[in-house]
Amino acid sequence: MNFSFSEEHLMIQQAARDFAQNELLPGVIERDDEQRFPSEQIKKLGELGFLGMMVNTKYNGSGMDTLSYVLAMEELSKVDASASVVVSVNNSLVCYGLEVYGSEEQKQKYLTRLASGEIIGAFCLSEPEAGSDATSQKTTAIDKGDHYLLNGTKNWITNGSSAEVYIVIAQTDKAKGHKGINAIIVEKGMEGFEIGPKENKLGIRGSDTHSLMFNNVKVPKENRISEDGFGFKFAMKTLAGGRIGIAAQALGIAAGAYELALKYSKERKAFGTEISNHQAIAFKLAEMHTQIEAARHMVYKAAWEKDQGLNYDLSGAMAKLYASQVAMDATVEAVQIHGGNGFVKDYHVERLMRDAKITQIYEGTSEIQKIVISRSILKN
Ligand code: CAA
Repeated sequence: MNFSFSEEHLMIQQAARDFAQNELLPGVIERDDEQRFPSEQIKKLGELGFLGMMVNTKYNGSGMDTLSYVLAMEELSKVDASASVVVSVNNSLVCYGLEVYGSEEQKQKYLTRLASGEIIGAFCLSEPEAGSDATSQKTTAIDKGDHYLLNGTKNWITNGSSAEVYIVIAQTDKAKGHKGINAIIVEKGMEGFEIGPKENKLGIRGSDTHSLMFNNVKVPKENRISEDGFGFKFAMKTLAGGRIGIAAQALGIAAGAYELALKYSKERKAFGTEISNHQAIAFKLAEMHTQIEAARHMVYKAAWEKDQGLNYDLSGAMAKLYASQVAMDATVEAVQIHGGNGFVKDYHVERLMRDAKITQIYEGTSEIQKIVISRSILKN
């Protein structure tokens, strides 16, 4: 067992840390406040290769492994989870799915631009009545010979207005259940495709989350990913990897809050000494540190399993379940350690606490992770 990182991993971690401090930290409070998408920052992340980290270099990706990706996600999320979710969706849900299951034409046409960060993508599965219950897709993609006719509404879509390319999961043949579902690439601007208003969210307020409406959108047949009826499995397989990215995001949020609380506790004085000298605070820090380290091991293990070509459904779901709980717990404690200062925006921890909550909801709620985990352990 080897717990040390390669030179390359350490360089990527440092590059993401520097980017977070130099490019994401300035203005993060204002972007959250104004619900402003970090366009400039995402553009720069693309130029640095963070938007197609695991994609082969022949498709303009960075050709890195999943461990590099989670290290970067962790560092970016310590400072700005609104930016890191864009990185996560583009890498895990869009680029990964296209590279593994897309046709060569789709890769040349879309992946090369998505991996370089020239454009970003969105993954459209959730619906008003199909968030967790993903087989109950109401959006239809009716086979019309040379094209699909797409109708329906998608909800809570990350990168909803900033994306140029949307992978839409839709029902082609209801009678076939999950085997009648397809994943179809839709381009912004296709006739009948409308972007709804932006959601006003509790957290990750800098990211743009929208409903999408499809009204008789004609999508060429060649935009279907893989064979007919593969859409549900495509979504499950893609989400399984996505959960590692979100677990890394949760880990980063927790670690970011912990680092701020640790620093604050060594500066802030009460009862004649720094508050870190009071056991009430020191014990909180000890517990946070332990939980974060445990979450970190789970996230890295899931990434490692993916890099080894092993099945990572279980480890990814466990990492997401645990890391997102740790993110919630650690951020609440970080606010508590900051006292009154924790309740105001300038100290960052209240934002991290709000951002933490979504990690227990998107890419499968904690309850969904428990379904995945329990099924996995019970089937053996
Ligand atoms: N890999 C490959 N195949 C898989 C799979 C996986 N990880 N998981 C399921 N499947 C296959 C099953 O083998 C089965 O195929 P067969 O019939 O051929 O055996 C098929 O898919 C159906 O599986 P289930 O019967 O297990 O399906 P289910 O209806 O019971 O649902 C579920 C399972 C795990 C609850 C699933 O619906 C699920 O993951 N739901 C949550 C969806 C989700 O994560 N939504 C988040 C939206 S995306 C998002 O948040 C993005 C963002 O903006 C950040």
